[in-house]
Amino acid sequence: MTAADLKVLTAAAEIGLPEPLRLLHMTDTHVNLPGPGNPTEEAYTEHFAAAIEYAKAHGLFVIHTGDLTVYNTPENFAFAKKMLSEVDHITLIGNHDLTLPGKIGHNDPVMGAQVFPVVQSYFDHDLTFSSRIVGGVNFVSINNIHYRFKPEQMERLKAEASRGYPIILLLHIPLFDSEEAAIMAAKGRKFPHMLTPPEKYRTIYEERNWARQCGDEATYDTVRYIGSEPAIRAIFAGHLHERHDGICDCGKRQIITNGVFQGYVREITVY
Ligand SMILES: [Fe+2]
Repeated sequence: MTAADLKVLTAAAEIGLPEPLRLLHMTDTHVNLPGPGNPTEEAYTEHFAAAIEYAKAHGLFVIHTGDLTVYNTPENFAFAKKMLSEVDHITLIGNHDLTLPGKIGHNDPVMGAQVFPVVQSYFDHDLTFSSRIVGGVNFVSINNIHYRFKPEQMERLKAEASRGYPIILLLHIPLFDSEEAAIMAAKGRKFPHMLTPPEKYRTIYEERNWARQCGDEATYDTVRYIGSEPAIRAIFAGHLHERHDGICDCGKRQIITNGVFQGYVREITVY
């Protein structure tokens, strides 16, 4: 795998910037170095290096929307951080970043809360909520990996909206998009892993999936707020290991990119 082997998707997002901003959307790299409890098949280190090489060669700002690692080990995070240190970037965590080798604690909020401080210690920015202005865009990243938004995250988002910059929201788990859900169902993936599925999907999900993904009141409130807030212009997300560029059910443009582990990146021009 080299930069020339990457499958490069494209998108353009018009949000009224005076100067265009070109960036590389990477997501779901799943760095998977072998280690105790993890006799791995594929480390995906070459995939990560190829994507970073592509960003450097094309002068692109990098946004990585979670699942840097497949398992939370110091070695995996050290490699991911070394790669990211070569480019100007924003990163957030995904559900795999809080999973221990052997898939222990995968998607488990209790285990996730225990592991979270360790993962946070690898980063300088707040992994639950962060904001950074680049090229006149306020990139706001919110951790939603357990299919929930917390009330304090909504309050912080409202504070960001009041600053007057156009916002692009960075999430690991996409907001529910019925069009993409139908595409995935046609491929046999009946339980689309997106945030706040509509009630009519309840019968399609098994009870366990529904309980995990249906969201709570604060989560639905936050999604409604995202849909109604004019400052929020677009959402970039990952998690599905699929690509989609559409309007999610809350009414906002949402761009989802396949995983780097699958050989994909997406070049996005924001203008
Ligand atoms: Fe992933």
